[in-house]
Amino acid sequence: MPENKLPVVILTHTLPEGWISSLKDRCKLYIGPQDATKLDPSLLKMLPQAEGLFTLLTIPVTQAILDQSPKLRVISNMAVGVDNIDITACTRRKIPVGNTPGVLTESTADLTMALMLSIARNITQAQRDAQDGRWKTWSPAGWLGTELNGSTIGIIGMGKIGKAVANRAIAFGMKVLFTDPEIKDYPNALQVSFWEVLKKSDFVTLHAPLTEETRKLINNEAFSLMKPNAILINAARGSLIDTDALFNALKYHHIRAAALDVTDPEPLPSTHPLFSLPNCLIVPHIGSATEHTRQQMAALACKNLLAGLVGQMLPHCVNPEVYPLNS
Ligand code: DGY
Repeated sequence: MPENKLPVVILTHTLPEGWISSLKDRCKLYIGPQDATKLDPSLLKMLPQAEGLFTLLTIPVTQAILDQSPKLRVISNMAVGVDNIDITACTRRKIPVGNTPGVLTESTADLTMALMLSIARNITQAQRDAQDGRWKTWSPAGWLGTELNGSTIGIIGMGKIGKAVANRAIAFGMKVLFTDPEIKDYPNALQVSFWEVLKKSDFVTLHAPLTEETRKLINNEAFSLMKPNAILINAARGSLIDTDALFNALKYHHIRAAALDVTDPEPLPSTHPLFSLPNCLIVPHIGSATEHTRQQMAALACKNLLAGLVGQMLPHCVNPEVYPLNS
């Protein structure tokens, strides 16, 4: 197809070329900067012509964006979470929205375990102490942590990632509790209520999507029910936790510690008080950050985009009701 006939697609961020090679010659790409936190002004100008939008989880896709994009026929989010997108508004406009489930399950579950092990065994503090000359001898009572083996983990949200964490936790000798509105059974794990997860778990790990129902799910009331030795892990979405409540719970030792891959706000400013707490470990949303996973996410996002551009059903569509047979 001649270039001027190709559909205009906005790619909100610069990605490694090899990751998006399937888009070559199939659309006219307008690409934003690598670390964009909002839609670049040069791309805003292209909205009236855009037929496709390939976006990352950091870019809010709002009603206002849709209003400026009369030709938009597909949105492809390179993430499994789609809380950055106004799905209701897209569905009203019959715009299919694609996401990338499955391909990041194992890497995110691995990172959850890494956070759990690091915070439970004081890894970052121990590394700093070793480096800064505070390692004087083998210290019988120094850097004492807590063990995964024999502990109880409570998984909030038993989707693909929650299950992958359960498998790992079982292999570590943990007792697994979970709560999920849709999943009733999982081998070697016990389904309990949300409140029981909070009351009974030594580790509470969040794997629920961010929705209006789950926003600030972990708040003052939730912290008041958790064990004083509990460790909270979040590799899902920062806004599942009330950040002020978390700060107080950690500062006043209502819980033992927290390890976060995601925060609210995100990114968390380096001056944020959470960074001053020794019992809080924070990493910059790296759950899916392996070469393999990120390539797979990009490949799936390209597939969703290309399907939408030719009017086919997206391989992974979060609002299938936009298609006549499903409505
Ligand atoms: C997602 O896909 O939603 C993850 O947060 C990316 O790491």
